[in-house]
Amino acid sequence: MDKLVVNHSMNLKGEIRVSGAKNAALPIVCASLLTADELVLTNVPQLKDIYTLEKLLGGMGVQVNFKNDVMKFNASNVTNLVAPYELVKTMRASVLVLGPLVARFGYAEVSLPGGCAIGARPVDQHIKGLEAMGAEISIDHGYIKAKATRLKGAHIIMDMVTVTGTENLLMAAVLAEGKTILENSAREPEVTDLAHCLNKMGAKISGIGTDTLVIEGVDFLHGATHDIVADRIEAGTFAIAAAITQGDLTLTRARPDTMGAIIEKLQKAGAVITEGSDYLRVVMNSRPKAVDLTTLPYPAFPTDMQAQFMTRNCVADGVARMKETIFENRYMHVPELCRMGANIDVDGNIALVHGVEQLYGAEVMATDLRASASLVLAGMYAEGQTTVDRIYHLDRGYEHIEDKLNNVGANIIRIKG
Ligand code: UD1
Repeated sequence: MDKLVVNHSMNLKGEIRVSGAKNAALPIVCASLLTADELVLTNVPQLKDIYTLEKLLGGMGVQVNFKNDVMKFNASNVTNLVAPYELVKTMRASVLVLGPLVARFGYAEVSLPGGCAIGARPVDQHIKGLEAMGAEISIDHGYIKAKATRLKGAHIIMDMVTVTGTENLLMAAVLAEGKTILENSAREPEVTDLAHCLNKMGAKISGIGTDTLVIEGVDFLHGATHDIVADRIEAGTFAIAAAITQGDLTLTRARPDTMGAIIEKLQKAGAVITEGSDYLRVVMNSRPKAVDLTTLPYPAFPTDMQAQFMTRNCVADGVARMKETIFENRYMHVPELCRMGANIDVDGNIALVHGVEQLYGAEVMATDLRASASLVLAGMYAEGQTTVDRIYHLDRGYEHIEDKLNNVGANIIRIKG
């Protein structure tokens, strides 16, 4: 297993190009199953999760060609409608093939994703929605088996805001017969990006960007070309790198319009932000101030930025109260940060972060994707050297992270395991 050795590096300065969003690319790659024509995606990040999905779709008979950041799909000859446990267990988002497969082929077998490090993460809302559209669903030997002659439009009110749940039902509804209304839908920019791509493929979705999506089902979808939206979480992580190291970073190809809550919290911390439609500049000249936050569905502060923002609060001036409301077990970075000298008290989903002036390099272990990023950030601030072990999590979601940070003055070395 690879490790990252992160050396103390302050005052990062320069430009970093933001990649396409992993969480937009994953559902949009699955949307390729909805058409027999060619789907072409640009700005696709080269990440382990995307390769996992490429393998999954390849096993189903989809022809996939992935060069640089362009991915081309042809799903005219799908021969296998099963998403096996071996792949789903490594990446929960594989469940996103469920909606497209049932919608286009009337059948799917998808392994239940099982528990994961940051919480139980059930898929009951995906199942409830498909059943409302007329699918017959059974759980058999750890697999969700779904059958339907043709899905029918339905009025579905989701019990909670779920990102992949909304995406799965959206992809099912576009080929269903009649109208589907999805209430209490997720409004994340990645859901919006999927909806725009589906409309380019001939779907009829309205209410995009709101919590009520209305879908008029069509008989078939055609090919399209779509550019994946910028990754707001990657951009937010680099913005925090600028804040923590008291640096000056310009994030090119960013989409600040999708980052409102992140930008607001950074400004409260004392960062000076300049933004345009496709860039964000973050300058920090002093020690950041502590900032309270609560994670909630978009447009509020994202859970996927909680760990990175906690690292920032760890070295801030003051005490911050942080509350995680999306996942029940998303403070696994806390003990690792404390090993580096952070002062954090956790009580249930509340973390009180008492800012300290100094962190110290240590050997730490990455426990999930965003927790890993928080440890790399802490390592840059810490005195001495920090070794972050198990960085396969990081490689799932950050494209060339050490190269991008080293180009602006960090000193991070990958040790191949
Ligand atoms: C997606 C993102 C992930 C992000 C999360 C929340 C992808 C590939 N992943 O994950 O990075 O952290 O959104 O923004 O886009 N829930 C249920 N039943 C369901 C579905 C969800 O109880 O059927 C619960 C979950 O346990 C969780 C909450 O709803 O507590 C939100 O989860 P959800 O939005 O579904 O997360 P994911 O789509 O898995």
